[in-house]
Amino acid sequence: MRYTVAIITVSDKGSRGERDDKSGPALEGMLKDFYDVRKALIIPDEIDVISDTLKALVDEEKIDLIITTGGTGVAKRDVTPEATRLVIDKDLPGFSEIMRIESYKITPHGIISRGICGIRGESIIINLPGNTKAATECLSFIMAALPHALSKVKGDTSDCAQ
Ligand code: MTE
Repeated sequence: MRYTVAIITVSDKGSRGERDDKSGPALEGMLKDFYDVRKALIIPDEIDVISDTLKALVDEEKIDLIITTGGTGVAKRDVTPEATRLVIDKDLPGFSEIMRIESYKITPHGIISRGICGIRGESIIINLPGNTKAATECLSFIMAALPHALSKVKGDTSDCAQ
């Protein structure tokens, strides 16, 4: 079963064409062998734009997995976790916990990311930090658990073998 994925780069400068988006393409490179990449968007750090985009991708486009990159830090404009919080039905704290723990082993700055992960409907939303190294490192920490999580979110009731 190949799940669909959308990658959203959240960046004021990226959305205005003032900065090349390197993280979105790098994440797409990691995901494309395993997922059907349906959308890659660049949007500004605006809470309504982010939450409306997440809702549309899940409710209208029925994308299984939404990966955001950027806007998870502590700068004044960083609101990706707040926008995600507005639209998720359930938290997936283990995903964000392991990203921060493993990131901290690489750099103390890893704990500055406030990204959250959660479920909306039958889709999973994952916040990753913005720079390419941080985003790809964080995705690598959680990739292995995503297919099983998606299958359960979509109603698989079989026993968990491991
Ligand atoms: N996580 C990993 N694995 N590697 C990193 O280099 N950088 C951090 C953090 N997470 C980093 C990381 C830094 S410097 C910041 S400011 C935060 O992610 C938030 O990034 P964002 O605001 O671009 O989302």
